[in-house]
Amino acid sequence: MNKAKKAIAERVPDIDVVIEMLDARLPASSANPMLAQLTRGKRALKILNKQDLADPQVTRLWLDHYNAQPNTRALALDAGDRAPTQKLITACRDLVPARGGLDKPLRVLICGIPNVGKSTLINTMTGRRAAKTGNEPGITKAQQRILLADDFELFDTPGMLWPKILVEEGGYNLAASGAIGRNAMDEEDVSLMLLNYLMRRYADALCQRYKLASIEGLQDIDVLEAIGRKRGAMLPGGRVNIQKAAEVVLTDFRAGATGRMTLERPEEWTEWLKTARER
Ligand code: G4P
Repeated sequence: MNKAKKAIAERVPDIDVVIEMLDARLPASSANPMLAQLTRGKRALKILNKQDLADPQVTRLWLDHYNAQPNTRALALDAGDRAPTQKLITACRDLVPARGGLDKPLRVLICGIPNVGKSTLINTMTGRRAAKTGNEPGITKAQQRILLADDFELFDTPGMLWPKILVEEGGYNLAASGAIGRNAMDEEDVSLMLLNYLMRRYADALCQRYKLASIEGLQDIDVLEAIGRKRGAMLPGGRVNIQKAAEVVLTDFRAGATGRMTLERPEEWTEWLKTARER
């Protein structure tokens, strides 16, 4: 059993609420199904983090989706939020109104795959310097018990809760977001899958970002080449440097430069899952 799984399994019996931090741009892909298994029956708070990068309308769909599940609340946050602690405490207290007070402190476990923004949130809530943030997944952190209020204990999970790829689209979405290490998947493939989705859902924003007249009738590779040309990513002989163009697309998406975009919707995820199971 890996370290995170063992630590979660040991901690869970004493825990009132399990917080799972998700990336608001890919909530389902950034969830870890093992966590759902280990924490079955526990109250759950889903934090859709990095909402500043996600499509607000789709974030609403995901919030409704999670809030409709039994014993579950969902909340959208981003690093710029001024009162994350209060929001988190309120949501957890709502889930377990019977607990609270010094004799019955609320015990909460916070989990999330690397790069989802857990250290940033914890650092913001504790007022510490962002010492352990970094976008290379895999930085190990020590287990912590954080007193967010006199009767509110937050436990951080030690070890790494690695992402799990349940469906192909999810794997690409994780890679597009930067949650999967850069060398794990081919950047050109990832950028093409990303463009494919953005062309369907966010064509106008794509055209605007890269000053493309229209992308109607074009294939993803045509659009990638057009972006490369616009950005001067050229090889000798007038060919487009596809690798460079792919980097442009991914860097822009990760930074939110292409606009606020979400790569999956609840009904799409259900469909992808169904297709993957039928294979
Ligand atoms: P982790 O502990 O879950 O592994 O994630 P961590 O907090 O280290 O955050 C990973 C990256 O995500 C960091 O970027 C962090 O700044 C960024 N991040 C965290 N929360 C948010 C958010 O709500 N919105 C946005 N836009 N970004 C967020 P980085 O590039 O590694 O570092 P830096 O840009 O802070 O220098």
